Amino acid sequence: QLRAGRSRIISLLVLDMANPFFVDVASGAERVARGASLGVMLCNSAQSVTEEADYLSLFAEQRVRGVLVTPADLTGRNLTEFRRHRIPFVLVDRVLPSAEGCSVSVDDVLGGRLAAQHLLDQGHASIAYVSGPMSLQQCRDRRDGALAALTDAGLDASALHVLEADRLDVPEGRDAGARLLGMDPRPSAVFCANDLLALGVLQALFAEGVRVPEDIALVGYDDIEFAAAAAVPLTSVRQPAVRMGRQAAELLLEETGDEADRHRHQSIVLEPELIVRDSTLAPR
Ligand code: RIB
Repeated sequence: QLRAGRSRIISLLVLDMANPFFVDVASGAERVARGASLGVMLCNSAQSVTEEADYLSLFAEQRVRGVLVTPADLTGRNLTEFRRHRIPFVLVDRVLPSAEGCSVSVDDVLGGRLAAQHLLDQGHASIAYVSGPMSLQQCRDRRDGALAALTDAGLDASALHVLEADRLDVPEGRDAGARLLGMDPRPSAVFCANDLLALGVLQALFAEGVRVPEDIALVGYDDIEFAAAAAVPLTSVRQPAVRMGRQAAELLLEETGDEADRHRHQSIVLEPELIVRDSTLAPR
């Protein structure tokens, strides 16, 4: 029974609403919200800490029922401030060490390790990592996992060449791909922090007649629907995005109940899975 006067909206604040990964997260959350006769308001922080703060103020002003948020603010300061409004929130895709709240995320260090280990197994010993801003924990964790795989294989950390993009989207991937082509010596493999970057890198390599995987092997992250449909089907580290959205919404509904224990700490960490396709298979 819904208490009279309470909002029937939960908000989902994501880093990039044009990224199919977050569309999948939203679809999982929306199904759970619908089941509880609640609606989902999807908002976009565009990886900006100030945009995130503005939206959190809007949610407080509107007294939404609860908030699902993929944090742009590495420090967690915005969320610590938001906590005083006593509107429950659940972190998606991140665990903030400072906030004792609830979260659903994927072990991105393991994800980075899976990507790099696969490339090592294919015989690559010089790998480029095309990252988003290192202010995003996901990008740092994926890098750290890749580094761990290389050092465990006895390689020097310098065997991972990091190129940092401003945003995790296709245009930035094209730009990173162009930079990659200018590297000398050129790494024989590229691991991208998400599939949108990888699709942009693929476009840039194709434009210069560079073959994937024959000349450069390519790995993405998320396994969005377009990964399998790419010109060269993309090897990618799959995040269970729909499940992340669903489980985050379920946690939030538990938090919004009347008898909710607001200081509960529950971190659900899901496993990534490497999906191997043509973009890394050794030439036949
Ligand atoms: O928004 C950037 C990325 O972070 C997404 O593609 C997904 O990988 C998330 O973890």
